[in-house]
Amino acid sequence: METKKRILTGDRTTGRLHLGHYVGSLKSRVELQDTYEEFILLADIQALTTHFDNPRLINSSIYDVTMDNLSVGLDPNKVTFVQQSQVSSIAELTIFYSMIVTVNQLRHNPTIKTEAQNYGYEDLTYGFLGYPVSQTADITFINADLVPVGEDQVPHIELSRKIVRKFNKLYGTNIVEPQVKLSQVGRLSGLDGNAKMGKSMGNAIYLSDTPETVWKHIRKAVTDPARVRTEIPGHPEICNVYKYHQIFNPSEAPEIYEQCSSGKLGCFDCKKRLNTVLNDLLEPMRERRAYYESHLGEVREIIVEGTKKANRIGNENLDAIKEKMFLKI
Ligand code: TRP
Repeated sequence: METKKRILTGDRTTGRLHLGHYVGSLKSRVELQDTYEEFILLADIQALTTHFDNPRLINSSIYDVTMDNLSVGLDPNKVTFVQQSQVSSIAELTIFYSMIVTVNQLRHNPTIKTEAQNYGYEDLTYGFLGYPVSQTADITFINADLVPVGEDQVPHIELSRKIVRKFNKLYGTNIVEPQVKLSQVGRLSGLDGNAKMGKSMGNAIYLSDTPETVWKHIRKAVTDPARVRTEIPGHPEICNVYKYHQIFNPSEAPEIYEQCSSGKLGCFDCKKRLNTVLNDLLEPMRERRAYYESHLGEVREIIVEGTKKANRIGNENLDAIKEKMFLKI
């Protein structure tokens, strides 16, 4: 039997996951779980880069993020969950990579630049600036072939490839150069008109939200501002709700476009239709999550066992790397 290629992707454990995470990465994780050997990293060290002052949140989020991943339909018998801070080979590899990555490569990374601006340069830590290096170790400690992520992560994977290439050339190792698998949907915008759905924006629809909360977000969604009455033809191309129909309701989107722009479908009814679609998507997730919430011991076991497996693979790989680096005496 041919061995399956490996996927590694992960989430920072800084809170629950929302629809942006779903379209950006979780959806493809589910689709790929049969064809690849899949590893989901619970990135608690990377969470510390911004949330070092809130360790309790990181701790509970390790469970929340795992349950969110399980709730979308990842099968714990197929995928491996890995708690980053419990894998020493990731930490060691991070140190090795940090010797060959340049400070300028990190400073000029566009995602880091934007994030550093948001946090403020004064407070930019060494660990934050270097998180793409630690992320390279996350991906390569098990020699993952493919990394399904959203577009903001692309510069990181490009850097990972450069680091790996340089490292292999220097030491004659065979670390796999990972490839990006970009989600089909670019960035999910907020229903409030914000360019991004995000926790800090207050516009996030969480996978575990109740139907009432979901409707609250949809009800206040900003549509075509010129459309004050149903009879006035709408402009779906500028409407936030229509964008969501395109993503979450592609089969009905053309009809909605037609009915909106001819003044037949009003915003309220259009929102109701989106509400139905999103709840149909989220309801099975809520049900699976409810099961795991009442079986937290099982969730813990999934994390502990997956982390053990990751450590076995990582320790073996790191041993071979140290050999090649002449670190063995
Ligand atoms: N930086 C990623 C994010 O913010 C999370 C992450 C950590 C990750 N380690 C990873 C993603 C390794 C892919 C591969 O979403």
